[in-house]
Amino acid sequence: TVSSAELVVRTGQVLLFFSVLSLSSVLGQVSYSIPEEMPRGSLVGNMARDFGLDVKRLKSGKARIFTRDSDEYIELNNERGVLLIKNRINREDLCGQTTPCALHFQIILENPMEFYSVTIEITDVNDNPPSFEKNNVIFKISESAVSGAKFILDRAVDPDVGSNGLQTYKLEPTDNFVVKLHDQADGTKNVEMVLEKPLDREKNEHLSLILTAVDGGEPQMTGTMQILITVLDVNDNAPVFTQPIYKASINENAPVGTVVATVTATDEDHGSNGRITYSISSVLDNARGLFEVNDESGEIRLKGNVDYEKKAKHYEIDIEATDKGGLADTSKVLIEVTDLNDNAPVISIISLSNPIPEDSAPDTVIAMLNIKDLDSGKNGHVRCFISPDLPFKIKSSSTNFYSLMSDDVLDRETMPEYNITITTMDEGSPPYSTNKTIHLRISDVNDHAPMFPQPFLTAFIAENNSPGMSIISLKANDKDSGNNARISYFLEDSQLNGMSASAFFSVNAESGEILAVRSFDYEQTKEFHIRVKAQDGGSPPLSSNVSVKIMIQDQNDNPPQVLYPVQTGGSLVAEMVPRSADVGYLVTKVVAVDVDSGQNAWLSYKLQKATDRALFEVGLQNGEIRTIRQVTDKDAVKQRLTVIVEDNGQPSRSATVIVNVAVADSFPEVLSEFTDFTHDKEYNDNLTFYLVLALAVVSFLFITCLVVIISVKIYRWRRERLFYKAGGNLPVIPYYPPLYADVGATGTLKPAFSYEVTLHSPCFISIFFAAFFTLIPFFDIHSFILVYLSQFFNILD
Ligand SMILES: *[C@@H]1O[C@H](CO)[C@@H](O)[C@H](O)[C@H]1NC(C)=O
Ligand SMILES: *[C@@H]1O[C@H](CO)[C@@H](O)[C@H](O)[C@H]1NC(C)=O
Repeated sequence: TVSSAELVVRTGQVLLFFSVLSLSSVLGQVSYSIPEEMPRGSLVGNMARDFGLDVKRLKSGKARIFTRDSDEYIELNNERGVLLIKNRINREDLCGQTTPCALHFQIILENPMEFYSVTIEITDVNDNPPSFEKNNVIFKISESAVSGAKFILDRAVDPDVGSNGLQTYKLEPTDNFVVKLHDQADGTKNVEMVLEKPLDREKNEHLSLILTAVDGGEPQMTGTMQILITVLDVNDNAPVFTQPIYKASINENAPVGTVVATVTATDEDHGSNGRITYSISSVLDNARGLFEVNDESGEIRLKGNVDYEKKAKHYEIDIEATDKGGLADTSKVLIEVTDLNDNAPVISIISLSNPIPEDSAPDTVIAMLNIKDLDSGKNGHVRCFISPDLPFKIKSSSTNFYSLMSDDVLDRETMPEYNITITTMDEGSPPYSTNKTIHLRISDVNDHAPMFPQPFLTAFIAENNSPGMSIISLKANDKDSGNNARISYFLEDSQLNGMSASAFFSVNAESGEILAVRSFDYEQTKEFHIRVKAQDGGSPPLSSNVSVKIMIQDQNDNPPQVLYPVQTGGSLVAEMVPRSADVGYLVTKVVAVDVDSGQNAWLSYKLQKATDRALFEVGLQNGEIRTIRQVTDKDAVKQRLTVIVEDNGQPSRSATVIVNVAVADSFPEVLSEFTDFTHDKEYNDNLTFYLVLALAVVSFLFITCLVVIISVKIYRWRRERLFYKAGGNLPVIPYYPPLYADVGATGTLKPAFSYEVTLHSPCFISIFFAAFFTLIPFFDIHSFILVYLSQFFNILD
């Protein structure tokens, strides 16, 4: 829109203007005032009318604008005689802050040359807002800044002038700061931000304010700048622990480095002012050196060993949190130590009877025990037991004291020792247990007698043994031990063949060996029965006995004895064989015996020598001599056979017998043939000697008997006389021989009679036998007996 043109004519100015343009003829001067920013083609003023010129003149005069500054803003329209905006005029570009702002130019006409001066004043339009050089500014202000602190702010610039220029500033929000303007000498204003209310970083660390510059135009225009304030921290807050007391627990035996607790303190300050360092400020003595705190994380770690039993059950430590500014807080940490089952029960033996005798009664106390477990509660509560299959039991006598007792009868012979394992176990989880083994020995009591393996024994010994020969060794066993099992052997006294057993045998007390004291003869005694006692060394001793049958074994120590035919040197014993005898005629039978037994007495008969071997044979088994062929007249009357009798012993023994056989039909024939048999010289010498000796013995015995009988008769006669003299009523005569001290009492046997029997009988009997046997050879009675015997054997056969 074109503002209304205003023609201002100022006489004074015109004068001045004319003087400037004095070189030409300045015919008029006009001033126009237009606002800036008029669009192109806008009418500035009707120059023709104002100068009073005809449009034709303008044309003819080729009116144009003459200027030294610029001709780009205004143009002259010659058709209409008006001035128009050629280009949009910006006052601020044209004049800056200079006021007033005007364009000066001349309009020149030719033919004739005329000058017309035109001044166009450009008035300001509020077309520029105030503006700040920067969009934002940053301040760092300590929170400790005091009220009244000033901070210079950048000024805003508004190219417009006058009332359109910058008028004032506003600062928002107004919580902490206000804006203040200070007039400067050059008319500008300094902008200051003044702290009115102290800052608190902890509440608001970053502030953002908007500074607004306002101009005075209509409408107002503003420009803004952001003010960013970072509040710098000041150590105005102490650290604070999250809890006044921390409670923690730790297992005993926890490894070094275990985190016990973590303490936390907070500090509202920032940075180093809020960086907290933890430390242990004080500890009770028992916790010294046991814990450490990580100065940054507040972790409390175990540094040593905690032991519920040996050390403390709880600990108390003071923790301090300090920030870098030196402000601090403290807190307590209470640490409970938790008991763990870390101690095994310990068994200690207070007393022990070892060994115990096997005859100990049940409930005999063997050992007293004490069992301790250092742990507490269930961890320290113990049970105690032993293996159930033992004849022992364990009993609690009072807290932690136990007695181990026998629970049954004991027998060393079945179980000489026991390994009693005592197990004790606490009730912790997992439980701890401890074993202790008592090696209990059972001592022997003499409760077993020695025993022979069998009640009867039979031993053998060959006859003709050497005295001192060992027969058998006995061995008894005793289940006891030591002295109670030390066995001695004794021969029990008994009568053997009317003699004490010790006359035949002796027993080695140590070895139990039975020895023969003498040499035995099987033919005399075939067996003995003795008893041997075995006795142990206990106190009192126990014993048992064994019956031993000792059998004497036969040896071939006796040769066969020929009973028939009797071998008497002088006799003319001959068997008669009639010449008419048939083959197989029994001539005679050789009878022999052997006092040995068995094989040693098993006899066999053989013909050793014969006058005519072809005539006789001897039965091997029965000793029968028989003819083996018909006797002929040519056969000699006198046949002499030598028969050997052998027993079957090893080596065998033998005897020979000579059998005279007369092959004849009549006795005289025999006699004549056999005379040379009877006069055997050696045989007769022996007989004579034997006869003399026998006569001497018989005479001696006879005389001795006579002398004895007579002297006794005399003695008896004298005694009777003495008795009668005393009148028969005297007491017993003191010089009676002791043998007859009971005479005159009630004895039933008369001393005289007894005397006669005892003295006369043996005397006469011995004389009779001596005479009888002496005379046998002469009467040949004994050959008669033998013949008789042989006939007896024949009958048996
Ligand atoms: C007892 O223990 C010992 C040693 O371990 C062993 O030699 C012995 O045979 C054991 N006795 C019993 C009866 O088990
Ligand atoms: C021998 O032992 C038996 C039992 O074996 C006994 O009856 C007897 O009395 C004992 N004899 C002696 C003499 O001790």
